[in-house]
Amino acid sequence: MGRSRWASNTVFLLAAIGSAVGLGNVWRFPYLAYKYGGGAFLIPYLIALFIVGVPLLMLEFAVGQKTQAGAVKAFRSLHHRFGGLGIFALLSSFIIVCYYAVVMAWSLIYFLVSFAKHVPWAGNSEGYFYKSVLELTANIGTIGGINWTVLLALIAIWVLIYFSVWKGVHSVGKVVWWTVPLPVILLGVLLIRGMTLPGFLTGWVYYLKPKWGALLDPQVWQAAFGQIMFTLTLAFGVMVAYASYRKHDEDINKGAWVTALVNSGISLFAGFVVFAILGAMANLKGVGVSEVVKSGPGLAFVVFPEALSLMPFAWFFSALFFLTLLTLGIDSAFSLVEAVNAAIHDRYARWNVPLLSLIVCALGFLGGIIFTTRAGLYFLDIVDHFVNAYNLLIVAFLQTILVGWVYGAEKLRAYMNKVSHWDVGAWWTWSIKVVSPLIILALLVWNLVLEVEKPYGDYPLWALSIGWAVTLVPFLIFLFFFVRGSKTAA
Ligand code: PHE
Repeated sequence: MGRSRWASNTVFLLAAIGSAVGLGNVWRFPYLAYKYGGGAFLIPYLIALFIVGVPLLMLEFAVGQKTQAGAVKAFRSLHHRFGGLGIFALLSSFIIVCYYAVVMAWSLIYFLVSFAKHVPWAGNSEGYFYKSVLELTANIGTIGGINWTVLLALIAIWVLIYFSVWKGVHSVGKVVWWTVPLPVILLGVLLIRGMTLPGFLTGWVYYLKPKWGALLDPQVWQAAFGQIMFTLTLAFGVMVAYASYRKHDEDINKGAWVTALVNSGISLFAGFVVFAILGAMANLKGVGVSEVVKSGPGLAFVVFPEALSLMPFAWFFSALFFLTLLTLGIDSAFSLVEAVNAAIHDRYARWNVPLLSLIVCALGFLGGIIFTTRAGLYFLDIVDHFVNAYNLLIVAFLQTILVGWVYGAEKLRAYMNKVSHWDVGAWWTWSIKVVSPLIILALLVWNLVLEVEKPYGDYPLWALSIGWAVTLVPFLIFLFFFVRGSKTAA
């Protein structure tokens, strides 16, 4: 039996865009933009997109499509010592999907309770999130047992993920027709809602007013590069796996540009939605926009619900917003599962795909249970920090070294240009060999220095060592396979 294929090129692009567009576009990007210079942030952001994001995305598309394999086999085909790099990437994916699904479970809970007569968080959105939904304990040392509501919601989310991937690309290919356009339409509805409210313009000015001085702050550049890697779902084996389901001779360069530009366009757009609502909320409360802005879980589950609760038809727009989060998140979540499935299937081709998916989903669910305890948010915070600060950057760095110096960037570029509509110039080779690895290495070293100066958060050592394990265990596995090499010449 030949390799499974996407039904069309459009379906492939939808799936890649779906993986890229996720919670990061709605809560991470707008916040970063505001915090790091408003409109001026777009400059480092776009530079990061062009000199690192797009080249790396092309690299992953090219590697998957050329080798016709998921991340492990793909990297091993480029050099027999690099199979472990795929394992590294996929373990990181697996760890992310364990907690990403939990964030989706919170969204599901909020979606469902929106249908109550009065949204239950009205007047106390912070208490509602931390006390009523998460039942958060005072600190990570108090685990507090399992929060059964979250666990139940998590099961429901995994059922959704399972049925999105159970037949591999065939089911993914059907689901993305719905789950990729829908959140964009929903965001459009929320935007129109926001623009009918007084104060929305203040929100926009706040979001985009350029603070040029920010460009001199290295931290701004760090944030921009970090966000680009995260938002394009790079270094997790996802784009490699997705591209491996295309035929050997399909266009790469144009697809990478389309994916990258649509993704960033949606981020920018989401920023307008979020800041319109925040502006309106600041106006209603008679405070400055800066007093209502937050990032991360705080934005999506505290500030935004509160803003919506202040408006007419609170339940309707709340339900809409959380449906947006769910439909945004699900493509990213199942792309991570599919990356793992693809690699296992390369190895055990005779396993039955629905069963294999079931096993991976069940494991993902089990791995997520720790985040459904009443101390779950603390664990989530730690694991999220380590995966994004280290795993992502280490894998990305090794990918550029593997392709740039070991396999040969020029060789891969020749292949890309042979199959693509648009040629990519020698700048790509430069990016992969020199610019990207140097920048990624700088970010990595920087994160490490900060970490050593001041360990992340206020967590005890045992808790932080879970974070270190999240990075070091996959890294050691990589090293093991690197030293051993593979006898099977791919
Ligand atoms: N790209 C997704 C987003 O922006 C996030 C994501 C990153 C999902 C890595 C999975 C893995 O939300």
